[in-house]
Amino acid sequence: MLNLRLGVTAFILAALGGVALAQDPTLAATPPMGWNSWNHFAGKVDDAGVRAAADAMVATGMRDAGYIYVNIDDTWEGERDAQGFIHSNSKFPDMKALADYVHSKGLKLGIYSGPGPKTCAGYDASYGHEEQDAQTYAKWGIDYLKYDLCSYRMILRQQAGADRQKAFEMEKAAYEKMHQALLSTGRPIVFSLCQYGNFDVWKWGAEVGGNLWRTTGDINDTYERMADIGFGQLGLAKYAGPGHWNDPDMLEVGNGGMTDDEYRTHMSLWAILAAPLLAGNDLSTMTDETKAILLNKEVIAVDQDRLGKQGDRAYADGMTEVWTRPLSNGAMAAGFFNRDTEPHSVTLKLQEIGFGRNAKLRDLWKHEDVTATHGNYTVMVPPHGVVMLKVSR
Ligand code: GLA
Repeated sequence: MLNLRLGVTAFILAALGGVALAQDPTLAATPPMGWNSWNHFAGKVDDAGVRAAADAMVATGMRDAGYIYVNIDDTWEGERDAQGFIHSNSKFPDMKALADYVHSKGLKLGIYSGPGPKTCAGYDASYGHEEQDAQTYAKWGIDYLKYDLCSYRMILRQQAGADRQKAFEMEKAAYEKMHQALLSTGRPIVFSLCQYGNFDVWKWGAEVGGNLWRTTGDINDTYERMADIGFGQLGLAKYAGPGHWNDPDMLEVGNGGMTDDEYRTHMSLWAILAAPLLAGNDLSTMTDETKAILLNKEVIAVDQDRLGKQGDRAYADGMTEVWTRPLSNGAMAAGFFNRDTEPHSVTLKLQEIGFGRNAKLRDLWKHEDVTATHGNYTVMVPPHGVVMLKVSR
């Protein structure tokens, strides 16, 4: 079935004479949503913690809101056996049983590796074992792989030296190699490229099977870093679409380093960017405010809009910026962002974004309809905060 679907896509793309997008079109038709262990737990992730995250995703309503992937990041890896097959370490006594558990909750399980000999945290990665690792993941029942460059940079230094073109080709080939290995398992596995945006990955990530690709270095739980990354995504919209997304990194919502206004900015901006929504907090201790942010169905609907068009900045005025995203049925999402530490009033001129005076406006954080006056909607935006609207005809 998978091969048939791939065959049909390849045929359609060949017929269109377009770039061959080499992934299963039913995978990541909208940006992947889920949870990842790294931002909060880092090296402290274990089997019990992943089960607890899965339980919490069901209990809090996150699963039903669309958060489906439970992704184990770095530090699960154990030793390779005499045949070269990887095993999980003592924190994960039985990966297959864990996958069964996660699946029994209606969720999917993700895992982490990389093309180098070691992961960023110094554990065994897939260099020279790509086929075997892909087979192992499929056998365990893995549904998502984040593939992190890390120590492959050492191989690049050794083999390509200062030859940038050679380094680019090697890096691309390393991702393609795992892509082929995943395809040959016959199991649909979302392929998440993590090489921090090197060599303008958005231009070729889809060609090597990427369903998503990180566009930047790591996020952290500060407004400065989040804003730097988020507002820095200018001009990347045209590279994203169903099955292949720009990834400005995982969410920090609920980790405590930002105010709720800042986290609303984070969530709104990521939704306008059609970014993967991978919560990175401890799901068992969420405040009501954190839940209200991660579970805002109207904002999630923007992120998951089936048109799959990423938004971009419409205009900036000093410390305020308006970002818009085209949605299905001719609607549009508009985020009014205030990057200053003082409140600012922002005006949306409906005509400037292609809407007439009788457009319908809805505030997606207040969950209420609002009205424009003479085609203008003016609103106060809190420091580092956002007002997010859906504009419909
Ligand atoms: C890199 C990645 C992070 C995380 C760590 C794990 O820094 O960019 O997202 O996966 O490695 O070691």
